Amino acid sequence: MAEIAIRNVRKTYGKLQVVHGVDLAIGAGEFVVILGPSGCGKSTLLRMIAGLEAITAGEIAIGGEVVNKREPRERGCAMVFQNYALYPHMTVAENIGYALKVAGLAKAERTARVAAVAASIGLTDFLDRKPGQLSGGQRQRVAMGRAMIREPKVFLYDEPLSNLDARLRVAMRVEIRKLHQRLGTTTLFVTHDQVEAMTLADRIVVMNAGKVEQVGTPQEVYGRPESLFVAGFIGTPGLNLLPGTLDPAAGVVHLEGGRRLAYDRQRWAGAPAGRVLAGFRAEVARLVRPGQGLDASYEFAEELGASRLLHGSLGGTVVVVSVADGRMLQPGETFGIEVAPSEVHLFDAETGRRLPGEARPSSRQSVPVLEAV
Ligand SMILES: Nc1ncnc2c1ncn2[C@@H]1O[C@H](COP(=O)(O)OP(=O)(O)OP(=O)(O)O)[C@@H](O)[C@H]1O
Ligand SMILES: [Mg+2]
Repeated sequence: MAEIAIRNVRKTYGKLQVVHGVDLAIGAGEFVVILGPSGCGKSTLLRMIAGLEAITAGEIAIGGEVVNKREPRERGCAMVFQNYALYPHMTVAENIGYALKVAGLAKAERTARVAAVAASIGLTDFLDRKPGQLSGGQRQRVAMGRAMIREPKVFLYDEPLSNLDARLRVAMRVEIRKLHQRLGTTTLFVTHDQVEAMTLADRIVVMNAGKVEQVGTPQEVYGRPESLFVAGFIGTPGLNLLPGTLDPAAGVVHLEGGRRLAYDRQRWAGAPAGRVLAGFRAEVARLVRPGQGLDASYEFAEELGASRLLHGSLGGTVVVVSVADGRMLQPGETFGIEVAPSEVHLFDAETGRRLPGEARPSSRQSVPVLEAV
């Protein structure tokens, strides 16, 4: 277990800068997910930590020691990739134990440690098979076993689940989380899948175009997105965003098309007047009769089983509302949307940042717990 400090780290390939000064502090034992769209620099950052890519500028420290000039094998990191590249001619046991063999450990000790690792990830019955005789999920576990046996200070995962089918992905997610609970090894996990990030992470680092947009717990990035990018990227669907003009005196946003949307004026007491985007989550909106809220024109629905996502158009802007039940609407039919002022997020239309002047919530609302009798 080791903490990782990333200080003003940059990466350029020739004239092209792909990582623009990243600062991050990852606690010992923490599970941090780096989330962002394709090409934003996630793998590059991870590879610089592992030592597979030179650091153009800045500093990376693992366990308090600056590792910029250290060889990959001296950094105590074990990396698991999307293409896990097992040795096809070796058995599962040989694949998992390979690092120990290279390190010159005696056969008996190697066998014992391979057996222990294999047991912990459910591979005991597969030790004599070759990778070609395994399913994708089993191969992925071999790759994890190969990383685990080195007892690294840090696990680095680069999209390790993207080659697996949807069900297996969910199962492996659980395995990885359980493994972390058991070993407590500092873990950095790269993905472009926000559901994976939300379900795995202690904290999420949202990256965009080589920069960090926001760092926070899953609840923080979901509940208080710092930018339009985060608002759109986190959550299925992303935050609804309506363009308008903020009127602090009235405590409303004048939406394009003449409608008004009230926001929590006390919470945003310092918010300046001007062009904004007013945001709300699909699941906080309530359906009301036409004329009693914001009127939208129904387009289509996505059926999710437990709920349904209604897609509509509100003055030309797409809105999505989540409903649990209710009758089917006809395309073109008008439906009303009501949003509680406390659920409205405000963003500066020009900078794309969350509007300044918002009071931080003083205390977190606690989750109700059953009282012991
Ligand atoms: N060796 C290289 N030479 C030049 N440019 C590179 C090189 N490696 C990566 N890049 C560029 O750096 C940027 C970041 O790449 P990186 O692989 O870190 O993205 P990523 O966030 O991991 O994306 P993905 O989700 O697709 O894996 C991309 O624009 C990529 O084209
Ligand atoms: Mg990548």
